[in-house]
Amino acid sequence: MRQMVMVGFLQAQNCTTLASAWRHPDARTDFTTAAYFQKIGQVLEEGKFHLGFFDDRLAMPDIYGGNPAEVVANGVRVVKIDPVVTLMAMGFGTRYLGIGSTASTTYYEPFDVARRFQTADLMLGGRVAWNVVTSVNDGEAQNMGRDVHMDHDLRYDRADEFMEIVLGCWDGWEDDALVVDKKSGLFAHPEKVHRLEYEGKFLKSSGTFTVPRSPQGHPVIIQAGSSNRGKTFSARWAETVFVAYPDLEDGKKQYAELKAEVARLGRDPDLMTANTIVYPVVAETRSEAEDKMALINSLYKEVDGLSLLSEALNFDFKTKGMDEAFTSEELQGMSGMQAMRDRVMKVTGRNPTVRDFLEVTRRGRPRETAVGSGKDVADYLEQWFTERACDGFVVAGTHTPGTFEDFVRFVVPELQRRGLYRKDYAGATLRENLGLSKPARGAWKLRA
Ligand SMILES: Cc1cc2nc3c(=O)[nH]c(=O)nc-3n(C[C@H](O)[C@H](O)[C@H](O)COP(=O)(O)O)c2cc1C
Repeated sequence: MRQMVMVGFLQAQNCTTLASAWRHPDARTDFTTAAYFQKIGQVLEEGKFHLGFFDDRLAMPDIYGGNPAEVVANGVRVVKIDPVVTLMAMGFGTRYLGIGSTASTTYYEPFDVARRFQTADLMLGGRVAWNVVTSVNDGEAQNMGRDVHMDHDLRYDRADEFMEIVLGCWDGWEDDALVVDKKSGLFAHPEKVHRLEYEGKFLKSSGTFTVPRSPQGHPVIIQAGSSNRGKTFSARWAETVFVAYPDLEDGKKQYAELKAEVARLGRDPDLMTANTIVYPVVAETRSEAEDKMALINSLYKEVDGLSLLSEALNFDFKTKGMDEAFTSEELQGMSGMQAMRDRVMKVTGRNPTVRDFLEVTRRGRPRETAVGSGKDVADYLEQWFTERACDGFVVAGTHTPGTFEDFVRFVVPELQRRGLYRKDYAGATLRENLGLSKPARGAWKLRA
């Protein structure tokens, strides 16, 4: 029987994706310690989650108003510690949980990403994943020494080359290349360690990779692009994708399109799982959960929404009045998450205002919520899963570790009773737990 994939949406920062999460009375405040992340990892593992993954952005959302004062004072995603280092801390406090981190193809070097993630995968016995992003805004560009963020589609073209280098590096060592035989003096088979010579339009790399294969071959590749170009990229490279489908009907349509695109590229669509975001707010009874939701809603401040919109769309929303429409040139120039802009334009049917953006996107507030008892939330997840709007869920926190604790206590046992969710880990590596085979060297080259 087909079973759900469960992913914990994690942040190596002072709040969850909801900036207001740190204001929640039950939110832990020790988010700069290993103990905090290990606790979250242990809760996810108790709930048999396949994966926890850390999102990332290489800047504060201080495009808003052109300075950091307001976002710092309000704690709008301003502490962002390194997600790969945090992943390691969580990994050492868990045994089976897969753990992923985001890393940008636009601002890092492919050899560096290949080496760092392959090392993490070795250290954690094959439990690591890489969420590939091309990044979104000028704040990231400027922190990384550039003036402006690269054009949207161009950065995906460049990211294709980035992937070819990273996978080329990961192909460097065959599975049985390492010998370490002191008697014969043979350290590794030279014919099983391969040099990479790559020269593309944007990137080049030439050399022999320095990290052997891991128990699962190499890290699992995650992608979450939602623009047309982003989806093509996902279909080509991702082994599991993260999506944010706005409702069930739209989800079914987009899910079918994604699977068709994967099949068109000659890949098995059943092996590439698509997981959609959900914010569960769950309690013993439905009315208790509704009270919890009311509290969560009361924590939101307008600065959360406005600064996170500015960040995502790479445009300072403070330069516009609340009911002032954006000009067509301004809309065209938004180079961040274009799918978000396009949806707002589609819903409003005209040049939208700042208020339209706040209302349609609900940025800074939970949008994809499932509120109720364990049974209510399990019903919601079951419908999305069985009607084929997704293969699993990216469970997002309204506060941590509370959201995950509630989910594991109330929802997981209900899903398990229904046979929709596994009762234990299938193996030691993330690939085994996701039902993915160990990748053969060079298999990725068959993709278009
Ligand atoms: C669950 C989920 C997690 C994401 N995590 C990140 C992230 O950590 N960093 C990031 O820059 N974008 C993240 N994104 C956004 C996309 O990866 C992508 O960067 C964004 O949608 C812009 O690309 P697009 O224009 O192709 O959609 C995430 C999206 C989803 C649905």
